[in-house]
Amino acid sequence: MSRFHITRVALLAALFAGSTALLSNSASAQDDATGGVDEAAAAESGANDKEYDADKGSDALDVSQFPAEQQERYTLFAAKCSKCHTLARPINTDKTASEWARYVKRMAAKPKSNISPDQAKNVYLFLKYYQSTKDAAATDGDAATSE
Ligand code: HEC
Repeated sequence: MSRFHITRVALLAALFAGSTALLSNSASAQDDATGGVDEAAAAESGANDKEYDADKGSDALDVSQFPAEQQERYTLFAAKCSKCHTLARPINTDKTASEWARYVKRMAAKPKSNISPDQAKNVYLFLKYYQSTKDAAATDGDAATSE
């Protein structure tokens, strides 16, 4: 009888230890699984965790005063460059024309970007034009403050 009892206690202890181990294992397995899903989703959209101040700015432009061909390019830009991050990111980022050329190529080269070389060229021409309007406005601003 007492031998049976000891075996039972040992068995219960083993069971208890086993189930705690199981519980903590399944908890961490769940963490891993959630992390995995987040990473997969991030990889899928091409997004990453880095925060860009530009993302917090305006995500649309009033192009009504732009030349007609730039208005057409803006439509393309708005469609193609808002897939993975907000359009605010390129809108509120300043780059020189050659940096934009490099950047548009880099974005178009990303998997699933779905931007053809011809579209990349037109997006670049829009960004170059839009940058020139921003640069001109900034120069006007400087002139105004120095008066
Ligand atoms: C396939 C997804 C994807 C598409 C489409 C895409 N981007 Fe990006 N973009 C990213 C990722 C990811 C980053 C983060 C930095 C990196 O990986 O280069 C980024 C970052 C940026 C930045 C911030 C760069 C910096 O360091 O200042 C700019 C500007 C930008 N993209 C412009 C564009 C433009 C313009 C287009 C359209 C031609 C575009 N993106 C289309 C994924 C994309």
